[in-house]
Amino acid sequence: MTDLTPHTFPAGFAWGVSLGAHQTEGGNVASDAWFRENQPDSSLERCGDAVDGYHRWPEDLALAVDAGFTDYRFGIEWSRIEPADGFISRAAVDHYRRIVEAAVARGLQPTVTLYHFTLPLWFTASGGWGRPDAIDRFLRYIDALAPVLEAGAARVMTINEPNIVAVTPLLRNGAADLQDGIPAPDPGLSAFLVDLHHAAASRLRAHHPHLAVGWGVSVQDYRAIPGAEDDLERYAEPRDQVFLRASAGDDYVGVQTYTGTRVGPGAVAVPDRTAPRTLTGWEYLPDALGGAVARAARVVPSTPIIVTENGIATADDAQRIEYTTGALLSLRAAMVDGADVRGYFHWSLLDNWEWGHWAPTFGLVAVDRETFARTPRPSLAWLGALAPRPAA
Ligand code: BGC
Repeated sequence: MTDLTPHTFPAGFAWGVSLGAHQTEGGNVASDAWFRENQPDSSLERCGDAVDGYHRWPEDLALAVDAGFTDYRFGIEWSRIEPADGFISRAAVDHYRRIVEAAVARGLQPTVTLYHFTLPLWFTASGGWGRPDAIDRFLRYIDALAPVLEAGAARVMTINEPNIVAVTPLLRNGAADLQDGIPAPDPGLSAFLVDLHHAAASRLRAHHPHLAVGWGVSVQDYRAIPGAEDDLERYAEPRDQVFLRASAGDDYVGVQTYTGTRVGPGAVAVPDRTAPRTLTGWEYLPDALGGAVARAARVVPSTPIIVTENGIATADDAQRIEYTTGALLSLRAAMVDGADVRGYFHWSLLDNWEWGHWAPTFGLVAVDRETFARTPRPSLAWLGALAPRPAA
């Protein structure tokens, strides 16, 4: 199988684009990310107005619909819903409700992310996830979202990449980076995030039984170098398998894959310094998606998988198409081998703020940072054309 057609994937397969709140909205002045990037000693490029998605979302929705996608993943920013401790902004709740309503009206299934790396500054400054009432405060935020979730949201992602959240303390203090695989998270923080997810999922199921509830795990394709086959499991377990396993009983598990890591004896990453890399510095491995999905399916066989992120930071859109073709063919092969995969969401619809950097462009659509003008790249129409068209 070398060609992709609208018949390569089964009927009913979801074709989506993914966006994150802070990375696209702009002006999230009450968030901890805004605070960090505006410190005088910060080395981050500012997110600032981002790509003004907070105001231009109707245009972004239209780009997805017109290209043929069936699904739309976007984020809700807690710091907009609750900008000060205990104050719920009805205007912000309405804002997100309108996005859900507009998506549904245009035939898109909305998937809503509740926590994508950023938190209200007041929450972080008062202890963040270390607060004794942290889970309760997250549940109160979820309760405030009822009008959004009842407006026609199809799925909720409670936490985006808990395994990256769990290593954020290491990334922030410079003890690790993501260039050569994901560092091993602190087990206590991982266990807390599993508890947080389970509490959020049960609250959502109790109040909004129509919603499909899950979370999105960063899953790399871990490849053992010869002789290290037995080390693979030990390497993968704390990095993602503990989170994948916690998805048992969920309506879906989101798999988010960009690359792979070679694992050597002693369960350590063995990077190949000569391998081609993308603009994020990650090894160019289109077929990592199939390997990651196959492993996720082995770890949590009872939970359907949705690829909630996959894409490439590149300045060359032809390379984006090449990468995504390889990723999708490997995904299809994993499905033929038995993985229960229900959809593919591309990261990202738009070029956006890549956590302190603007150079790594992931968009199917280019964005002019001065005018915010959106210019679709050829990959947008190419990928959208794989989604089944409604009968004319
Ligand atoms: C995150 C996105 C990010 C993307 C590319 C994922 O880890 O969910 O926020 O932009 O990868 O780095």
